[in-house]
Amino acid sequence: MKKISLSLVLSLSVFMIVISCNKDKTQAPIEPCDPNKVYFEQDISPILQNNCAKSGCHDATTRAEGLNLTTYNGVMEIVKSSNASGSKLHKVVTTSDPGDLMPPPPNTALTADQISLIDKWISQGAKNEICENSTTCDTTNMSFATDIQPIINTNCIGCHSSSGGTSGGYDLTTYTGVKSAVTASKLYASVAQNGAAVSMPPASKLNQCKIDQIKSWIDAGAPNN
Ligand code: HEC
Repeated sequence: MKKISLSLVLSLSVFMIVISCNKDKTQAPIEPCDPNKVYFEQDISPILQNNCAKSGCHDATTRAEGLNLTTYNGVMEIVKSSNASGSKLHKVVTTSDPGDLMPPPPNTALTADQISLIDKWISQGAKNEICENSTTCDTTNMSFATDIQPIINTNCIGCHSSSGGTSGGYDLTTYTGVKSAVTASKLYASVAQNGAAVSMPPASKLNQCKIDQIKSWIDAGAPNN
């Protein structure tokens, strides 16, 4: 009995520490999305979590080179606010030296669009901001190609592709791969983080609209449309 309560107290306190470490106290209140602004939460964090925070790299456990890129404070260790070209983050994703390039080959390099988002975010002051669109979430007639695949490309394939590692056995770069996660009843469970599968993405959670869109597509039979 004593043993049980001790391990309970221990695991609870570890849990509390993990929760409090994950919360960045720098985050600004949610504002309506400004189309001219780049937001850390919506735009930058998914790129870094998907491409840099893999296990064995810059995730909260491994912290390769002391860097945990799953949090704003961790990212700011390689960012000089308002100085994109002087920031280590910009340098390592754009260098022509394959030995220094991040993510290291054979992982896919960041796209020009992703790099320009990062640069714009840094130039705008590299703030820890989050926005919310007041438009309602459309979950009707979800198409794999136009609605679902973009969510997966932004948030998942860095860890789930033939070049980046097929974590959990899932290559999510193709319809077939995504469908196999649906068939195994793992796709919705992982993004809803309901306990029936390992929570995905590992260090964050998709917003509710994206989770609802994935659910609606699965409920419609997960068509390849
Ligand atoms: C940072 C790397 C990373 C990202 C980003 C990521 N995954 Fe994973 N995923 C993993 C790893 C590692 C595993 C294996 C976990 C395990 O077995 O403990 C996994 C496992 C899974 C599984 C199997 C879960 C189970 O319980 O068997 C599914 C489904 C999955 N991921 C879907 C996704 C989806 C969908 C996204 C994007 C919304 C995503 N993943 C983003 C690393 C990642």
